[in-house]
Amino acid sequence: MRHPLVMGNWKLNGNKNMVNELITGLRNELSSVDGCDVAIAPPFIYLDQAKHQLSGGRIVLGAQNVDINLSGAFTGETSANMLKDIGAKFIIIGHSERRTYHKESDELIAEKFAVVKEAGLVPVLCIGETEAENEAGQTEAVCAKQLDAVLKTMGAKVFENTVIAYEPVWAIGTGKSATPAQAQAVHKFIRDHIAKHDAETAAKVIIQYGGSVNADNAAELFSQPDIDGALVGGASLKADAFAVIVKAAA
Ligand code: G3P
Repeated sequence: MRHPLVMGNWKLNGNKNMVNELITGLRNELSSVDGCDVAIAPPFIYLDQAKHQLSGGRIVLGAQNVDINLSGAFTGETSANMLKDIGAKFIIIGHSERRTYHKESDELIAEKFAVVKEAGLVPVLCIGETEAENEAGQTEAVCAKQLDAVLKTMGAKVFENTVIAYEPVWAIGTGKSATPAQAQAVHKFIRDHIAKHDAETAAKVIIQYGGSVNADNAAELFSQPDIDGALVGGASLKADAFAVIVKAAA
């Protein structure tokens, strides 16, 4: 049985006060919820504060990015070992905002995937098509290509104990979520694609949906057989909305 994961991607939002209030709110709302893993990924600069405030609770710390290098002359970067040192576990890689604004390639993202796994952390690999690709009927081809960058260098076993987040770019921050049926079809495609290489790993890998998940649409999305939780942007910045989403997955 797969254990769903609901993870909040705070993106470039927050300040010390907001981190304090949001985590306090989340701990209150989620103290009695069981049956699903919960993580938050604040900006790097607040990870240490967040770790202290999460102490003793069930919410796990995540991060939004990582560098491929472990140490050295790489100004401005953060390594997988540093994320491990600070207590982060789930590391988002390949988010469409990094692919778009920071020109991250499938190959670079595959390297990040390897570095995160080697550090004993859990990569959350984001994949998904743009609106134009969707309209051109290329959704499956794009997802396959993004998965293949990892599969061809590391094989399917590398997906053991990892997370894939299907985030159609057209659904991110737009309020226009994929329908449960649309998302389920792509999630099934992703699982089947990995199963061509290794059925056992495919059956176990967590596949989250991301893109305008909110308190109203979460339950129906999670009722689909191949949707194992969500990667949540905007709605993860409000404790009450995020808690409704977590409870829908639990
Ligand atoms: O990583 C989460 C994400 O990109 C979705 O953002 O604001 O549409 O929930 P949002």
